[in-house]
Amino acid sequence: MEAGTRLTVNGTGRTLASAPDTMLLDVLRGELGLKAARFGCGEGLCGSCRVLVDGHAVASCNTPLWSVAGREVTTPEGLGTADAPHPVQAALIAEQAAQCGYCISGIVVSAAALLAHTPDPDDAAIRAALDPNLCRCGAHNRILRAVRRAAAAMRDRAA
Ligand code: FES
Ligand code: FES
Repeated sequence: MEAGTRLTVNGTGRTLASAPDTMLLDVLRGELGLKAARFGCGEGLCGSCRVLVDGHAVASCNTPLWSVAGREVTTPEGLGTADAPHPVQAALIAEQAAQCGYCISGIVVSAAALLAHTPDPDDAAIRAALDPNLCRCGAHNRILRAVRRAAAAMRDRAA
């Protein structure tokens, strides 16, 4: 049997050679070249490295590879592309919500996780979902508007 840690990344089964105690963020960026999830604090405190694990937003900087064996990991690249953006990505662009943009990939992941199970969140629910994501630029109000816009677009699409 092939050595390594097996998991699914953005819909594709992978067997990864990194040591099992390597943090998931380093595996994604270093071994797989998926650079959208970003290193910020490295301590689970800023949200810039968030990815989905079985649909739940988690900090990948302090998640060891062994803990996601057999699970489904989705990075921002797996949520949408430039040609086919996720509604959250499209809404963040439409609302011009990014200033430096460093936090945005983590915001996309948190918002996508929220909207996957809460199609019509109120502002309190959006703020709670984004609470783990720090934005040093203070773009919070535009980000909030963008998540509302994305929620509406997803509801329209589902109608
Ligand atoms: S880099 Fe992971 S939470 Fe800050
Ligand atoms: S847009 Fe700069 S940190 Fe959020």
